[in-house]
Amino acid sequence: MTDFAFATCLVGMEPALKREVARDRASLRFAYSRPGLVTFRTDGTITPEDKSSSGFARVWGRSLGAARDPEDAAHQLAAVGAQRLHVFARDSEVATDLAAWAAAIPIEAGASQLGDLVADVIVAPGEPAWLGLHRADAYHLPYPGGWIPVDMPSESPSRAYAKIEEAIAWRGLPVAAGHVALEIGAAPGGAVLALARRGLEVYAVDTADIAPQVLALPNVHHLRTKVGALRWEELPERVDWLLLDVNLAPQVALHEVARLVPKLRDHLRGVVFTLKLNDWAFVDELPKLAERIRQMGFTDVQMRHLPSNRREICVVGLRAKR
Ligand SMILES: C[S@@+](CC[C@H](N)C(=O)[O-])C[C@H]1O[C@@H](n2cnc3c(N)ncnc32)[C@H](O)[C@@H]1O
Repeated sequence: MTDFAFATCLVGMEPALKREVARDRASLRFAYSRPGLVTFRTDGTITPEDKSSSGFARVWGRSLGAARDPEDAAHQLAAVGAQRLHVFARDSEVATDLAAWAAAIPIEAGASQLGDLVADVIVAPGEPAWLGLHRADAYHLPYPGGWIPVDMPSESPSRAYAKIEEAIAWRGLPVAAGHVALEIGAAPGGAVLALARRGLEVYAVDTADIAPQVLALPNVHHLRTKVGALRWEELPERVDWLLLDVNLAPQVALHEVARLVPKLRDHLRGVVFTLKLNDWAFVDELPKLAERIRQMGFTDVQMRHLPSNRREICVVGLRAKR
């Protein structure tokens, strides 16, 4: 028997996805790919409950195959018992007409509830759609295509506003007004703005300028220094959330923050690190890097390529509940 799994990802991240699957699921062999969509073949079974072995997959599930038009998709999906319909673009950066596909398939659309069997209809202009099935669980995000809706205000100086909001939504981080955040690599200040708007006291470490509209907020403090030169006296008494978003190789970036963690550990609730993957070989290092973050005292470490991530991945580490 041959079954197939499918994964969707940001266009351009297919090499990272394939590398992780080859490393961690040797029984899956690469079958087919289009930009933003990869399928794998196995002699075993792939159920809709199958778990992705890669944080680069936005959606992962059982692959059903191509549908030449909306009526064909409706016909094929009629037999599978799906409770929810997710129609989305294969390439999230390309304007794609989804309406005809959604209209032809009589399954309820919208955000999934835990346990729903979800039909994925992956659409690209001028092509057959690709069909898949997944079970909505804690790993799968509820919106079509693994999307996370974020309203980024026009005054945000960077897309990092969306990255931190997506991380908060993905892990349900208990970020609250009155908490203190320290961000290493904070300029021009998108993430700082998001946290300041949530009422946190935010310390922004960067040698570069923080945008004036962000710096003007009373709860934003700029520490104009390299992380390696940061002095203890400059840090607040207590830090709840530590963020890292520097354009350095991940090993180097983690080495820099490792120096700070012991001093902050007693109060830290969690860390949100954006690791840059300028070299695909860094993908092979991710399990080791996750282990290093665990050794810093964060027992629950998960990685995910968030909708606003580019050639990078988000790692969230949480302390055990005390
Ligand atoms: C991707 S940007 C950060 C975007 C930012 N998080 C935001 O929300 O807008 C990377 C930043 O890392 C900073 N950076 C690079 N090396 C650094 C270091 N050793 N210490 C502090 N900041 C550093 C750069 O100056 C740059 O502003």
